[in-house]
Amino acid sequence: MMELLSQEIEKVRESFNAEVGKIQSASDLRVTRETYFSRKRGLVTGLYNRLKEVPGADKPGLGMEINRLRVFIETALQQAEATQLQDGKNRIDYSLPPSDMPVGRLHPLTFVRREIESIFIQMGYEVAAGPEIETEVNNFDALNVPLNHPARDEHDTFFIADHDGMILRTHTSPVQIRYMQSHPPPIQIIAPGKTFRKDNPDATHTPVFQQVEGLLVDKGIHFSHLKGTLEHFLRLFFGESIRMMFRPTFFPFTEPSADVYISCFLCEGKNDSCPICKGRGWLEVLGSGMVHPQVLRNCGINPDIYSGFAFGMGIERMTIVKYGVPDLRMLYDNDFRLIEQLG
Ligand code: DAH
Repeated sequence: MMELLSQEIEKVRESFNAEVGKIQSASDLRVTRETYFSRKRGLVTGLYNRLKEVPGADKPGLGMEINRLRVFIETALQQAEATQLQDGKNRIDYSLPPSDMPVGRLHPLTFVRREIESIFIQMGYEVAAGPEIETEVNNFDALNVPLNHPARDEHDTFFIADHDGMILRTHTSPVQIRYMQSHPPPIQIIAPGKTFRKDNPDATHTPVFQQVEGLLVDKGIHFSHLKGTLEHFLRLFFGESIRMMFRPTFFPFTEPSADVYISCFLCEGKNDSCPICKGRGWLEVLGSGMVHPQVLRNCGINPDIYSGFAFGMGIERMTIVKYGVPDLRMLYDNDFRLIEQLG
């Protein structure tokens, strides 16, 4: 009896040795564990059951042999499991395409600004810049906005504490002043940059926003130059099929002044519930006009010899109109889904 059981223990060990090398997967592992340790039919379990049949004196010796076999098999299976986990981690298949590599994208406000810039650069404009902290004189007075003028109220201004006469610029128009005071005509610039107004954030306002200013001064410049320039720009930016409309308005630094609208490129005014134009058919995109003679004079340019046009647009506004973004604040939420959609 003892001989027999001893032989069986050996057989189980041999069969395990033959099998352990073939373990390839977690399910192989599970099957092998079952084969040796399952409660009812496990081969090692069976050996323990057989122990009951051997004479008392032989029990301890054979019992210890079975124990050793059990520990040996358990250890080997643990090792197989560990190697498998390792393998899973280290296995590299160089022929596979790379996994999703996150690729950076430009923020919509950045690529819209660059697109605007590139259209004007093609037309011969230079890109100029001015400081975000401005003098009240450049931001208002030199632009023909006197101290008590209501237009000054409309630009809810951030003042700089302890620095009289210094403010955060409320528009990019002061760059016109700086440029004209330091460059003789002909002048042909755009000036993109941040602007600041004490507005409460809502779907169409943020206290920090961006504008692009445009200015052209030369001899014999008249309104049709402005019209042709803006028409060319808007068609490239929004699409060939849009129509443009000027509507008279007031700016202190231009005379005459006009707001510029484009026809709604989504519904062309045919849909009362259009998400872009809300059924109005027209979208306001720019302010513009002929540079006021007083502004030229303030910059040492003789309005009897020179004339010019100017315009200003909001980059956020151009972006939400072009892409139908329902709320301007989404551009500042840093939600990757927006950036990926527009990028
Ligand atoms: N500065 C104006 C604003 O912020 C926009 C503007 C209108 C700029 C007409 C111009 C212009 O240069 O001619 O509302």
